[in-house]
Amino acid sequence: MTSVPNVTLNNGVTMPQLGFGVFQVPDEETTTAVARALEAGYRSIDTAAIYGNERGVGRAIAASGLPREELFVTTKLWNEDQGRDRTLAAFDASLGRLGLDHVDLYLIHWPTPARDLYVETYKALEKILADGRARAIGVSNFQIPHLRRLLEHTGITPAVNQVELHPGLQQTELRAFHAEHGIATEGWSPLAQGAVLGDEAIVGIAEAYGVTPAQVVLRWHLQTGNIVIPKSVTADRIRQNLDVFGFELTDADMAAIAGLDRGLRTGPDPDTFN
Ligand SMILES: NC(=O)c1ccc[n+]([C@@H]2O[C@H](COP(=O)([O-])OP(=O)(O)OC[C@H]3O[C@@H](n4cnc5c(N)ncnc54)[C@H](OP(=O)(O)O)[C@@H]3O)[C@@H](O)[C@H]2O)c1
Repeated sequence: MTSVPNVTLNNGVTMPQLGFGVFQVPDEETTTAVARALEAGYRSIDTAAIYGNERGVGRAIAASGLPREELFVTTKLWNEDQGRDRTLAAFDASLGRLGLDHVDLYLIHWPTPARDLYVETYKALEKILADGRARAIGVSNFQIPHLRRLLEHTGITPAVNQVELHPGLQQTELRAFHAEHGIATEGWSPLAQGAVLGDEAIVGIAEAYGVTPAQVVLRWHLQTGNIVIPKSVTADRIRQNLDVFGFELTDADMAAIAGLDRGLRTGPDPDTFN
């Protein structure tokens, strides 16, 4: 079975660098997809309250028989539940749906800056962490000014910022800020939901190594130092996306992919998504 490297987060907790995402997968189908992923060797699962499939994830985990400590489960607080009391209640509800007594990582899903609640919300996450119900806490879709504000007004540096990140949106400045502050960079839509898989440079590299464009993109993420959580409901793609440890991109390959950065957002802009 493939061995996925771990990333050590800023509080010492380790997280697999490659995990499995379940955005847009209906709850019933999620159980099958996560069961396949666990069977293939994934140990990190990324869900969110808004995905409506935490129960499906929980069922697959329970049925797997895997020891809880071998799994890394991430879920996220939805926007309308920001604010101290709502956050604490929403977290309880997520744990209930997952059927777990703790998660490994709990994230604020979006900063929703117009609501101006993310500092208060993050303090609720600090309480969840202190209570031992999340092993690490962090954020998602935070831009540098949002992170600066958190660092200024809260006590615990986020372990992770999960942001849209792929060859079309490489987030160079944000990644440098993360590195400076000990925040791990996690890329969502690591394949740009397929939008970069036809890029000429990526297809060319894939042909040279006898792998698929998706494998090249995932390899680029791993060599860049990103944590990634590709999603697939297709059995052979689930396996393929984990099979990225048998080849290595050269500096020239990495430079060719660096040239594909073009401000390509497949999802909302965090500054205006409220
Ligand atoms: N924090 C956030 O705001 C946020 C936002 C979006 C996503 N996420 C997380 O990030 C995860 C991944 O992002 P994503 O689901 O948006 O997109 P993604 O992983 O970049 O791409 C998923 C799409 O690519 C296809 N695909 C997967 N593997 C492939 C392969 N080897 N070859 C060709 N096509 C392949 C999938 O098709 P099939 O499934 O049909 O195989 C699906 O259509 C999500 O599931 C979620 O956990 C977080």
